[in-house]
Amino acid sequence: MDFNIKKICCIGAGFVGGPTMAVIADNCEETIVTVVDINKQKISDWNNSDLKLLPVYEPGLEEIIDRRRNKNLFFSSKVEQAISEADMIFISVNTPTKTKGVGAGKALDLKWIEASARQVAKYAKGHTIVVEKSTLPVKTAESIKKILEAASFNNEEKQFYVISNPEFLAEGTAISDLQNPDRILIGGENKKAVNKLADIYLKWNREEKIIRTNLWSSELSKLTANAFLAQRISSINSISALCEATGADIGEVSLAIGLDQRIGSRFLNAGPGFGGSCFQKDILNLVYLCNFYNLREVAEYWEKVIDINSWQKERISKIVVEKLFGTLTNKKIGILGFSFKANTNDTREAPAIQICRNLLEEGAKLLIFDPKVKPKQIKQDLINTNENDENIQVCTSIYEISKGVDAIIIITEWKEFKDIDWSLMKKNMRSPSWVFDTRDIVDDKEIKSCGINLWKLGSY
Ligand code: UDX
Repeated sequence: MDFNIKKICCIGAGFVGGPTMAVIADNCEETIVTVVDINKQKISDWNNSDLKLLPVYEPGLEEIIDRRRNKNLFFSSKVEQAISEADMIFISVNTPTKTKGVGAGKALDLKWIEASARQVAKYAKGHTIVVEKSTLPVKTAESIKKILEAASFNNEEKQFYVISNPEFLAEGTAISDLQNPDRILIGGENKKAVNKLADIYLKWNREEKIIRTNLWSSELSKLTANAFLAQRISSINSISALCEATGADIGEVSLAIGLDQRIGSRFLNAGPGFGGSCFQKDILNLVYLCNFYNLREVAEYWEKVIDINSWQKERISKIVVEKLFGTLTNKKIGILGFSFKANTNDTREAPAIQICRNLLEEGAKLLIFDPKVKPKQIKQDLINTNENDENIQVCTSIYEISKGVDAIIIITEWKEFKDIDWSLMKKNMRSPSWVFDTRDIVDDKEIKSCGINLWKLGSY
C-alpha cells in the first residue's frame, strides 16, 4: 500500500462528519477533503454563503469553514464521484436506535452504514482505506468488511482496508476537542492502513496521543467511554434527590467528592438528565450486546443508568406541578433553553423535550426560548403529543417568555441565562412566581430579593 492520501471523502455531513472534516482540512492543506450526503438540502446549507446558516452550530466552526471551503474542503451531493476519487473514506452516517424488528428500542439501525458500505464497494477504485467513524456496535467493522470483500473478490484493482476510529468529540466543544483531543483511537489489523490515518492526525497531534488497538477494542471503547460518562451523571443526579430530601447541597457534595483524584471533578454537575445523540443510544447498545451474549446482570446494571435518567426528567416536571398547587390547567410556563446542553443547536434526546411534554400533558401553555434552536425544530420535537400548536409559543427573547407566566424553568445552561435581570422578569410574571433552576445557574439571593420563589435542583 504505497500510496499517499491525497483525497479524503466523508459520507455523512452531520454533527460528527462536518466538524471533523473541517478540522482535518484545516490541518492538512494539501489534502482534498470532500464531505458528501444524500440529503441535498444539508449539503446546500453547508455551502451557504451566510455562515450563520450552516446546519451545525459549533463555536469556531464558521471560521474554519470560511478559511477552507472550496479551497481543500468541499461539500457535495455527488456521492459516487467523491467515493471513486478517494484514497480514504470516512463513514460518518447516523445510526439511530431501531424502532421495529429484532432489537427494537435498543439495537442500532445500521441501514445507513450498510448502504454506505455498498456504495463504497461499488464505486471505489484501487486501494481504499475505509474508516468507521460512526458509533457502532462491536463487530460492525466485520459487516462492512464482508460487503467490501465481496466486491474485491477476484478483483486486483479493488482493495479495501477497514479501520475503526471512533470520535470522542462533545458537541459544543467539537472544534477544540478535535484540535486538542485527549487521545486518538485507531483500531485495525492492517498496520499500514492504521499508520496512514495516524499520519493525518500527526499533522497536529503528538504520537503519544495515538492509541493503536484491535478493531473490536476500538469499537467497544467508544461505547464504554460513553457509558462511564453517563453513569457519572446518573450517579450525581440520584444523589441530587437525596440532597433535596436531607438538606445537603449537591454543589457542595460534588465539590467535595470531585477533589478526590480517583473521582475527579469533571462531569459531576447534577442537572435535568443527560441528552444528546450518544449516551442513551450507546448504553442501549451495550445493553443489547450484553443480552445477546447472555450477560443478563451486566445488561441490567447498565440499563439502570438510563432508568435514573428518565426518572430525573419525570421528577422535575412532577415537582413543578406540585409547587404550582397540583394543577397546570390554564397556567403559562416559561422554558429557558431547549437544546440538550449549552453551545449547541442539537435537541436530540434533550431533557427539555420530555419535561415540556409532561407539562403540556398537565394542561400548561409553554413559552419557550433557546438562543440557537430554530422554532421549527422545537415545534417538531413537541408536536407529537400536542396536536394543538397554540399551547407552544416559541419566543425570540428571554424577556418575552416571562409574559403572564406562573413559573420559569431553566433547562439548559446557556451563559446568557446568567445575566438575566430578574426584577424585570418578575414584573411580567403572575404571582406567586416561581423559578425552577435545574442547572445551578441563578443567584439565589437575587431571585429571592425580587420576590420570586426558587426551587433549585439538589438543594433543600
Ligand atoms: C458525548 C461525549 O462526551 C462524547 O465524548 C461522545 O463522543 C458523544 O457523547 P455530547 O453528547 O456532545 O458528547 O455531550 P456531553 O457534553 O458529553 O453532555 C452529555 C449530556 O450530559 C448533556 O445533556 C449534558 O447537559 C449532561 N451533563 C454533562 C450533565 O448533566 N452534567 C455534567 O456534569 C456533564
